[in-house]
Amino acid sequence: MGCYNTKKTGLGSMKKRLLLLSFLCVLPLCLLNAWWRRFPAKTAINPSSFYNITILLWHWPDGRSSSLKGDTCWDLYRIPRCRLVDQRSLFPSADVVVFHNRELALGHQKLPLDLPRPQGQRWAWMSLEAPIHNGKLHQYANIFNMTISYRRDADVTIPYGQLLPKEAEGHLVDNVPLNKSSLACWVVSNYRNHHKRSKVYKELKAVVPVKVYGRWTDTPLSQDALLPTISRCFFYLAFENSISKDYITEKLWRNAYQGGAVPVVLGPPLGDYKSVAPPNSFIRVDEFASVKDLGEYLQQLAEDKKRYSEYFTWKHQWTVKLYKDWRERLCKICSHYNSLPQEKVYSSLEAWVKG
Ligand SMILES: *[C@@H]1O[C@H](CO)[C@@H](O)[C@H](O)[C@H]1NC(C)=O
Ligand SMILES: *[C@@H]1O[C@H](CO)[C@@H](O)[C@H](O)[C@H]1NC(C)=O
Repeated sequence: MGCYNTKKTGLGSMKKRLLLLSFLCVLPLCLLNAWWRRFPAKTAINPSSFYNITILLWHWPDGRSSSLKGDTCWDLYRIPRCRLVDQRSLFPSADVVVFHNRELALGHQKLPLDLPRPQGQRWAWMSLEAPIHNGKLHQYANIFNMTISYRRDADVTIPYGQLLPKEAEGHLVDNVPLNKSSLACWVVSNYRNHHKRSKVYKELKAVVPVKVYGRWTDTPLSQDALLPTISRCFFYLAFENSISKDYITEKLWRNAYQGGAVPVVLGPPLGDYKSVAPPNSFIRVDEFASVKDLGEYLQQLAEDKKRYSEYFTWKHQWTVKLYKDWRERLCKICSHYNSLPQEKVYSSLEAWVKG
C-alpha cells in the first residue's frame, strides 16, 4: 500500500526500496522546512515590517510623479523588501516618511505635525540643493530623524553621480576622445556676476579661448547635442554655482566625464573631490597660483597628446553612474536602513545643513 508496491521483490531489493522510499518522502519535507525558514517568525505587532521597509514619499519633487506600480525597488534596482509608496493614507505603517525640502520651502506641502507619529517611524529631510538654496530651515528643530542628501555625512547619501568599478578592463584607445576642435568649453544657464565661477571664467577667457553654450549666451544645447558637443573640447569647465561641502554635480559626472573632456573643477575642497574621483582625472582651478597659470597649463596639455591621454586612465577601471530618478534615490534608503542609528533627532537641521 501507500506509494510503493511489494510484488515480486526479494528481501535485498525490498530494503533498497524502503531506503529509497524514505529518502523520497523525507526530501520534500526538508525542502519545505528550508523554504519556511527563509522567513522569520511572524509577530502580532506588524508582520509586514519583517519583510518590508515602507518608504512613504510625502510629496513628489517638483510635483512630477513616477509610477510606483509593482515592487518598484526590486523591479528597477534589485533592492529587496523595500516598499515605496506615495499614498499619505499609509502614514501609520510607514517606516520612513520622506519630505523633499523644496516643496516644504515653497509651501506646497506641510509637515503632518498633527498626526500621531508611530513609534520607530523616521522622518527624513531630503534635498539635493546646495545650502543657500534650501530656504529657511530654523523652524526644523527636533523634527527630522535623518537626512538624505548628496553629502557624504548624510544618513543616506545620494550623489549626483559616482564611479563604479568596470566589470571588464576597457580599451583605453577607444576611451580617449581626441577629435577636438575647442580648447575649453562651458555650458552655463544661470550666469551671475557674483559667482566665483564667473570671475574665473572672465580671467580664463583672457588667456585661452573658452567656448560658451547654454541659456546665458542664448546657445542652449539639447540633451542629444550636449555630450557630442563637449566631446569636441579638450577641457570642460565643471564649475559649481555654489561652493559647498561635497557639492559636486552632474557638471563633473555627466558633462565632463561622460562627455569625454577633462574636467577643470571649481567647487568644494580637494579632499571632497579626492574621495569620489580618481587622481589625475581632473584639474583644479585652485591648484594654480593664478588663472593665467591655469590657462597656460591647459594650452600645454592640449598639445601633449601623451600627457593629455593620461587624464583618461581612470576609464580603464571605472564607469560613470548618474543618479537621475527619484525612485532610485528613495530605494537607496532601504539599502542603508539597517545601519541607521536606532534613535536620532536633528536638534538643529539648519546647523547641520550649514555645517
Ligand atoms: C572629427 O570631427 C569632425 C567635425 O568637426 C568630423 O567631420 C570628423 O569626421 C571627425 N573625425 C573623426 C575621426 O571622428
Ligand atoms: C524621531 O524624531 C522624533 C521627534 O523628535 C523622536 O521623538 C523620535 O524618537 C525619533 N525616532 C527615531 C527612530 O529616531
